[in-house]
Amino acid sequence: MIDLHCHILPALDDGALDLRDSLAMGRQAAGDGIEAICATPHIRHDHDVRIEQLAERVAVTNRGLRDEGVPVTVLQGGEVAETAVEDLSEEELSRVTLGSGSWVLLEPAPGPLSDSLTRRVEHLTERGHRALIAHPERHLSADMYERIAALIAAGALVQATADFFLRERTADGMRSLAEAGLIHVLSSDAHSSHGGRPVQISEAFAVLARLDSVAPHVEWMRDIAPRAIVEGKDFSVPF
Ligand SMILES: [Fe+2]
Repeated sequence: MIDLHCHILPALDDGALDLRDSLAMGRQAAGDGIEAICATPHIRHDHDVRIEQLAERVAVTNRGLRDEGVPVTVLQGGEVAETAVEDLSEEELSRVTLGSGSWVLLEPAPGPLSDSLTRRVEHLTERGHRALIAHPERHLSADMYERIAALIAAGALVQATADFFLRERTADGMRSLAEAGLIHVLSSDAHSSHGGRPVQISEAFAVLARLDSVAPHVEWMRDIAPRAIVEGKDFSVPF
């Protein structure tokens, strides 16, 4: 499996505290059957993340994982805030795509989803990129379903937080979103091995596999779509 959203790079944003923490997150991932992780530090005005330094951080983390025999590869990425995306140069954008494709993990602004997010999806399309919307389920509103459907109609795909499928408070809502066909991939959005969400996504896919209307698409959501995203291959959505 591939985790498309994870704050595994050491000492950068609000993610891994240090390399030791990053490597522990890598071991969590390996234990869950994850073989590749897109490192997605916050690209946002309140985080001092230098895009030009990311490749070196990815390389350092991969060296550490290799030295410790952890069978996980870290790929490039970024969690690009919708309020930051228009300010990124082509060069910067190319350094924060998920893996080697053209997909950008786009983080909605705080609060309910709004038209501005759809405009940023269109902005990315005009620049030859595609948007993967990060965890829209955290942006509740009465018209959330219509908002997400509009984002998908504009060419975006949707990434949900795997852990939310396992929590009593959020599980029903997450299952409903999946059954409505409004979720395409699951990611950990893990920030540390010391607490919070772990680097695990397999259990949430097991939940999806028990939903009659979603089960036929779990293999696509778990294996086919994430791989195509990081490899920059063409693919279509089967639902
Ligand atoms: Fe995140």
